[in-house]
Amino acid sequence: QRYRDTGSTEKMNPFAEQEAWEDHQIGNATLKFGAKNKQVSDNYEFVFEDQIDFIKASVLAGDNYEDAMPAKPSQESTGKSAFDMLQEERKNLPIYSYREQLLNAVKDHQVLIIVGETGSGKTTQIPQYLHEAGYTKHGKVGCTQPRRVAAMSVSARVAQEMGVKLGHEVGYSIRFEDCTSEKTILKYMTDGMLLRELLGEPDLGSYSVIIVDEAHERTLHTDILFGLVKDIARARPDLKLLISSATMDAEKFSDFFDHAPIFSFPGRRYPVDICFTTAPEADYMDAAIATVLTIHVKEPLGDVLVFLPGQEEIEAVEENLKNKIRGLGTKIRELIICPIYANLPSELQAKIFEPTPEGARKVVLATNIAETSLTIDGIKYVVDPGFSKMKSYNPRTGMESLLVTPISKASATQRAGRAGRTSAGKCYRLYTAYNYYHDLEDNTIPEIQRTNLASVVLSLKSLGIHNLLNFDFMDPPPSEALIKSLELLFALGALNQLGELTKAGRRMAEFPLDPMLSKMIVVSDKYKCSDEIISIAAMLSIGPSIFYRPKDKQVHADNAMMNYHVGNVGDHIALLKIYNSWKETNYSTQWCYENYIQVRSMKRARDIRDQLEGLLERVEIEVSSNSNELDSIRKSIVAGFFPHTAKLQKNGSYRTVKHPQTVHIHPASGLSQVLPRWVVYHQLVLTSKEYMRQVTEVKPEWLIEIAPHYYQLKDVEDAASKKMPKTTGPAVV
Ligand code: CDP
Ligand code: MG
Repeated sequence: QRYRDTGSTEKMNPFAEQEAWEDHQIGNATLKFGAKNKQVSDNYEFVFEDQIDFIKASVLAGDNYEDAMPAKPSQESTGKSAFDMLQEERKNLPIYSYREQLLNAVKDHQVLIIVGETGSGKTTQIPQYLHEAGYTKHGKVGCTQPRRVAAMSVSARVAQEMGVKLGHEVGYSIRFEDCTSEKTILKYMTDGMLLRELLGEPDLGSYSVIIVDEAHERTLHTDILFGLVKDIARARPDLKLLISSATMDAEKFSDFFDHAPIFSFPGRRYPVDICFTTAPEADYMDAAIATVLTIHVKEPLGDVLVFLPGQEEIEAVEENLKNKIRGLGTKIRELIICPIYANLPSELQAKIFEPTPEGARKVVLATNIAETSLTIDGIKYVVDPGFSKMKSYNPRTGMESLLVTPISKASATQRAGRAGRTSAGKCYRLYTAYNYYHDLEDNTIPEIQRTNLASVVLSLKSLGIHNLLNFDFMDPPPSEALIKSLELLFALGALNQLGELTKAGRRMAEFPLDPMLSKMIVVSDKYKCSDEIISIAAMLSIGPSIFYRPKDKQVHADNAMMNYHVGNVGDHIALLKIYNSWKETNYSTQWCYENYIQVRSMKRARDIRDQLEGLLERVEIEVSSNSNELDSIRKSIVAGFFPHTAKLQKNGSYRTVKHPQTVHIHPASGLSQVLPRWVVYHQLVLTSKEYMRQVTEVKPEWLIEIAPHYYQLKDVEDAASKKMPKTTGPAVV
């Protein structure tokens, strides 16, 4: 039996039938007015065909079906310079044929929604077209990206295409890293950075065009920007606003932006065979590895893209694949493994774009970043385990966690599409067709509806937006979540009882950090330990990947790590010790090697720390050091993180104090064997259990001393039973 997608063309181009709409057809592009919501139905006809352990289920076909892959001329054969070759590549992108129409549409309309398939050239080309058309004469073109890796890699590409040095005419700005200069006219930045820029320049006066790119990703910051830039555009008729998206739900964007016209152009797409597994997979990582190896051994050449939830999973699969390949020796062709995730150092990021040597195969292990933000040429096979890491937030308890979650059908379609960009391809879904049709949601829920809003609420308050319930949200967050964040900001002292920003709140808003971290820094002034606290904040900001554990030296690595924990009251202090030891060696790389510490992470921490030090000056906090007074440091931590307090239970687990929930100390914590009675934690991560990451022991009386408005004696009642011996070994309560 065979299965065909009967409505594939309509599916790819939902604008194909649009009788009721007043449209303007320009060549193949459609400029659509008065858009309204419309359902695109999945009219699939099922016929199955058995195939190894996959079933082949459908074929995604493109608008412009092309049988043969246009051969790329090589530099030697043409004798052209690399720069000329790049110019030719630019002209081969689908968007190139619509350059004039697009520029005309931008000229005629202040706000334009742009829809074009991933890889068609929206992100790299539109800013250049605008520059060529003179829009940079009176201001910058800013282009936002939800992901920092995308901002870095795309700007690097555009700088190359324009023949300029990155950071000069073309630059990027991401949190803690500004690679722009006076000269910069095309600025790529994360959506979060534009939000921060708004705090200093509320009318975005230095910009002539703002492109909110990857709008379909609907990240929290993008959603907030929608409301803000819409308002700015009304006040500034000279500002052009482009909202660009890879998916078809553009009507929603159009509706939101006062029925702005939609400019959609067809991409180039080759058919993609989609295979499902016949039975659910017990372990998606093992299944992914097996599938990659099967492809490598059985399928014709072409690169493979594997979607994994996060860095940890990518590193595990990379290691496992390398071992298996080593085991197979010279029996198989060369397999080049390239990981890509947000924290990957930029030198290594570039590797995924390097052409695969002849006869070899490249396998890219990527997070969701490769779903729409980055296009890697030459991918012919996609392996989709069906998961991504998603934030989830419980507004009732205020708990936020990062979960490995099934993706949506929309994501699955985007992932499959990655296989058909430069030639016909194949997508292996590591889940069953039944799962796909019955269990996956149609669309991913916008982040604003499943995240802690404290940080953006603080930003909005400092922008002078007081009535948040009236803010122009495309999809409003649950009101409990808004209220919860107002409560938290109140508890942290950032807002007063009237919901107005306090002096502390104003200072906190200057830091590009979570309000709890900002509070910890602001309070360190009082405890005279800002020097130590910004080191801790910087170390917390680089994420969990400070140590490395080479396979053959795991014991040494673990010993090195435990050295920093010995006698400690917590992980925060251990982080401080690591930072200070490194500083004492004059930031030595050798020292990092000897201690199994990632030198790159440390350099980044140093960078972040320098910036935090600059911000201290800006909010007039003196750098003061109190390194012998560990209690002062711990009290500063408590002042920021008191809502994250947990108490040890008889069975060795913990219970959070407010909104009780069972949690555990993460095994990587220095306190995981110590089990102190009271702890505050930096964050919760749900893997096999709900784990507290980065934990510090606290005294319950501090909670009353520091947060009397939040905790009452009864919350910390065993504070009185001082006879309890201080727990040092595994606790028996
Ligand atoms: O934004 P959109 O998905 O429409 O496409 P794009 O990111 O502008 O990508 C257009 C082309 O540039 C693709 O063929 C990419 O492979 C290429 N590109 C690249 O080679 N290196 C990058 N860092 C980014 C894009
Ligand atoms: Mg793009």
